[in-house]
Amino acid sequence: MEQFDYRRMAFYQIWIRSFADGNGDGIGDLYGVYDKLDYIASLGVDGIWFSPIYPSPNADYGYDISDYRNIHPDYGTLEQFRRVLDRAHSLGLRVIMDLVINHTSDEHPWFLESRKSRANPYSDYYIWRDPKWKGETRLPPNNWFSQFEGLAWEYCPERVQYYLHVFAKKQPDLNMDNPRVREEVKSIMRFWLDMGVDGFREDVITFISKHPQLPDGLPFLPVINGMPFYKDGPNLMTYLREFRAVALEYGAVQIGEAPMTPVKTAVNYLTGKDRVLDMMIQFDTMMADCFMTEYIHHPFSLPKLKRAFTKWQNALAGTGWNALYLENHDHPRVISRYGSEQFWRESGTMLAAAYLFQRGTPFIYQGQELGMTNIRLGSIEEYQDVATINTYHSFRRRQPEQKRLKHVHIASRDSARTPVQWSGEENAGFSPVKPWFAVNPNYREINAEKEEGDPESILNFYRRCLRLRKGSDTLLWGDYREYFPLHPQLYVYERSYGTERILVVCSFSGKELSWQLPGGYAWEGSALLLCNYREAPRRGLLRPYETQVLRWNTNP
Ligand code: GLC
Ligand code: CA
Repeated sequence: MEQFDYRRMAFYQIWIRSFADGNGDGIGDLYGVYDKLDYIASLGVDGIWFSPIYPSPNADYGYDISDYRNIHPDYGTLEQFRRVLDRAHSLGLRVIMDLVINHTSDEHPWFLESRKSRANPYSDYYIWRDPKWKGETRLPPNNWFSQFEGLAWEYCPERVQYYLHVFAKKQPDLNMDNPRVREEVKSIMRFWLDMGVDGFREDVITFISKHPQLPDGLPFLPVINGMPFYKDGPNLMTYLREFRAVALEYGAVQIGEAPMTPVKTAVNYLTGKDRVLDMMIQFDTMMADCFMTEYIHHPFSLPKLKRAFTKWQNALAGTGWNALYLENHDHPRVISRYGSEQFWRESGTMLAAAYLFQRGTPFIYQGQELGMTNIRLGSIEEYQDVATINTYHSFRRRQPEQKRLKHVHIASRDSARTPVQWSGEENAGFSPVKPWFAVNPNYREINAEKEEGDPESILNFYRRCLRLRKGSDTLLWGDYREYFPLHPQLYVYERSYGTERILVVCSFSGKELSWQLPGGYAWEGSALLLCNYREAPRRGLLRPYETQVLRWNTNP
């Protein structure tokens, strides 16, 4: 079946637990989602990506699945999901699900069976290896670290073997080399596609094929030392082709998450007639203020961000398609990182223009359109995320408490997981009762209700941007070109199509900034399409975090 044109679309990401509580128990759910579908459609997006809503012990909030064919009781029922799906479709919103198949929960029935013995139908569903013995001492099969929780191996006395977990202990990695596991994946895909779902965001999909020997990684490299042996592995393309065939039967779209996959490798998945993925969630643009992970922080560098943007734009120009994003449930809030909490509205709107007009399909994460910012909780006990908690306890242990917490404030994924701020009422209008997780105390200033009524709000700016993008062939299809790549505070990019050129000008400075049009441009004939200040802009001068979108047409 032919695929729908995802290139014209914009997606809204829901991390359900903190989105909207519809039944009043303090936890976001599908009843809340149902009630907010009109709001989502009003943004001008065309689709929803649901982070996992399946049954899960929540060791990694949904990314540890214990049943692939059901809905977590906290969030509703399959019936309620169908209602959401139908209503979303009737509003013109596509729905894509998170497909998490690198690992399951250790409470998934497959794993419960698999761990029992070396000889049962599920024995080879996971990656089991014998211990390494050093005299009497039992050691794990290799020296890999997990991403979330110490070593990547956990011992199981019943089998006298270790299982591999690239993420948390409660997330055992599936053995994708087992054809039966791949058949399970395809059948899970069909289950949701048959129900009418429009595609998948595929969780750490580039990790599913492991190096057959599982060799040792560099011993001194924490967290990622095994990565060269499980990322972009030898059979990845083969397996992705199998899944692709199922998706294409239904015309479904596939967006692969690919931490640390370089653009050179990414083009293999994303281009050509028999490409295996439609878009990729790359991580390069998330590293403009850090090295590899947000926990290794450095001051924000605009040139670094621009290099990442432009690298992906150029690599896929004409041959592939980008997924554009600045936020999701895995990263702190972007205003607190790349913008300025002091110039909250200005930087929140500017950041929208900085990415929404690039060539690709934009993704907007819940609360991003409101300009939600990082939370700063007073102690580690108040945090919920397994990665945050383990990182806190494993590193920088000799540093003073306040310093360690500061790293958490900068880096924690939990900043993206506080309840969405719907209004200035108690609990930010998220729930009538105390929510499952802390509400950011700034909800009286930052909330949807307040921003609805303000034409200059971040919320309404997102709407304007999405409308502009959708109505413009130049913004949808035009070529991308960057100017002044080394400028430390100015990001200027051009989209050109036929006789039209559009310049998106973004100041990343809290001070006034003078600038000049790039060579070949003149102010005569320019039209201002969008600006994040109400008072008219001055030529050659940008106010703090100002953005201007300017248009030229030689054949108006
Ligand atoms: C992806 C998800 C993240 C999860 C991890 C393990 O990176 O986005 O939230 O913790 O995979 O499933
Ligand atoms: Ca609820």
